[in-house]
Amino acid sequence: MRPTRRALQTGAMDLDTRYPAIADLAARAKRRVPRFVWDYLDSATGTEATARRNRDALDRILFRPSILHGEITQDLSVEILGQRFERPFGIAPVGMSGLIWPDAEATLARLGRDAGLPYTLSTVASRTPEEVGPHTGGTAWFQLYPPRDPGVLDDMLARVRAAGFGTLVLTADVPVASRRERQRKGGLKQPPRLTPRLMAQTALRPAWALGTLRHGMPRMRFLESYMKSDRSLPSTAHIGYLLRTAPGWDYLARLRAAWDGPLLVKGVLTPEDAVRLRETGADGIWVSNHAGRQFDAAPASIDVLPAIRAAVGPDCPLIFDSGVAGGLDVLRAMALGADMVMLGRAFHYGLAAFGAAGAAHVAHVLTEDLLSNMGQMGLARPADARDRLIPEA
Ligand SMILES: Cc1cc2nc3c(=O)[nH]c(=O)nc-3n(C[C@H](O)[C@H](O)[C@H](O)COP(=O)(O)O)c2cc1C
Repeated sequence: MRPTRRALQTGAMDLDTRYPAIADLAARAKRRVPRFVWDYLDSATGTEATARRNRDALDRILFRPSILHGEITQDLSVEILGQRFERPFGIAPVGMSGLIWPDAEATLARLGRDAGLPYTLSTVASRTPEEVGPHTGGTAWFQLYPPRDPGVLDDMLARVRAAGFGTLVLTADVPVASRRERQRKGGLKQPPRLTPRLMAQTALRPAWALGTLRHGMPRMRFLESYMKSDRSLPSTAHIGYLLRTAPGWDYLARLRAAWDGPLLVKGVLTPEDAVRLRETGADGIWVSNHAGRQFDAAPASIDVLPAIRAAVGPDCPLIFDSGVAGGLDVLRAMALGADMVMLGRAFHYGLAAFGAAGAAHVAHVLTEDLLSNMGQMGLARPADARDRLIPEA
């Protein structure tokens, strides 16, 4: 029985032969989007050491294989925060997703719905919750960057809830903007503006340019809808002013009181924070270093996951992301305590490489790679991988 392969047919072209790895899709994506878009999607901050650390740390996690274990019935489904998903991985929030590939938000929301995995819509996406909600099948999550103004917060929560998003994710690891040197040099402005230099880059990428013409230049539409209503804003305020807060614990307590559904906090890297978040009312913890985009001295997310699991106990829902590049990485994170593993860039590489079929192909690659590596160890469920971990010397 392998129901998890359903809904991942990726069309006539045999993507599995020519693009068997997510890295193959990334290489094609790089050739299909303008340079400034690639730099936005792919860059981290500083010397990008944290991004490399994520990869190195994942590669160090080894398992004992198993032989002569007979036929196994595999099951990838997970239950988390009252929802059941067919796969143990999902789509992390990506701001201005629609800049990376036209209509990305609706396309990925439909993939989440059809393939049975959570899709997370960002506050700074290029589509509003109302635009994306109808594509989600009611299973998607919403990621919140905290607005300064309490009235704006209440209104955002009401709109998110009415648009069908039942789970809220507060991102807590962006108290200030990071420098992202490579992205800066790429020349992306907010809101995106086609300077002569960017126009020249765009001319070399016709599929992206045509799609963007058809769907319109992406903007942060959800935030823009508050630029007029927030009277505390100076008339010349940049849109980022709405959000650039460094919220404290009191903000979380207020958010907990205002949101009646499951609440996750994303960007957690220490056991002490995880424990305090639980005490303050978070229903689950999202372990992440933002793919190295915020703080270049952060530990690899996978390295802190075991201590966080130990601190919050076996029943606390734990989400993991940062640097996952295949099904084996999903298995590694689940072996170390994650209940659900999220990917940001990988799904966007797929989208930029082949549109909706490319994003579906990413889910297919992850699924097949998970099943294959579980097969090497004779595992029925991904979480069983914890019994096959080889302790680090
Ligand atoms: C281009 C880009 C934009 C992102 N925007 C957001 C965002 O708006 N909100 C957020 O919480 N995280 C954001 N993230 C972080 C992702 O949600 C996630 O933590 C990270 O991408 C996971 O690592 P991965 O890309 O290696 O899978 C962004 C990441 C990327 C690459």
